[in-house]
Amino acid sequence: MEKIILLMCILSLEDVQAFSSDNQNQAITKCIQKTGVDESIVTRMGVTLDIPDNSVVKKFLACLNKKLGFQNEEGDMLFDNLRGNLVGMSSEEVNSTVSTCKQVKGTNSIENSYLVTKCIFRKIKSIIKLKKRK
Ligand SMILES: *[C@@H]1O[C@H](CO)[C@@H](O)[C@H](O)[C@H]1NC(C)=O
Repeated sequence: MEKIILLMCILSLEDVQAFSSDNQNQAITKCIQKTGVDESIVTRMGVTLDIPDNSVVKKFLACLNKKLGFQNEEGDMLFDNLRGNLVGMSSEEVNSTVSTCKQVKGTNSIENSYLVTKCIFRKIKSIIKLKKRK
């Protein structure tokens, strides 16, 4: 099976650097256990960067964002912490991703983590596409 990588830490797609520390893998394992999300969904999400609209998946993402320090207990996303984890992007790309996704806000902690993560994944995908076209 593909190694589970994730969040803002992307996979080994072209120029975007794979980065998966033990700390992140541990957080992923813990959140899979805690939420009971299907591991294959998590793996696929890491590869496709598509997040299914599924309540268990959303709980998993909120768990992970909190464990990785990307979201506080009040449910606010901590963009400064996210910034450092957008590896393989130029600072312009990081700034553009952060400023776009800062405008997204969910009505509660779980929805907020889902919408912001989805926004970030979408930006990452568009950046990967642009790079491939060059
Ligand atoms: C990106 O944002 C940071 C922090 O706001 C700023 O210091 C930096 O100059 C920006 N970089 C670019 C390339 O716009």
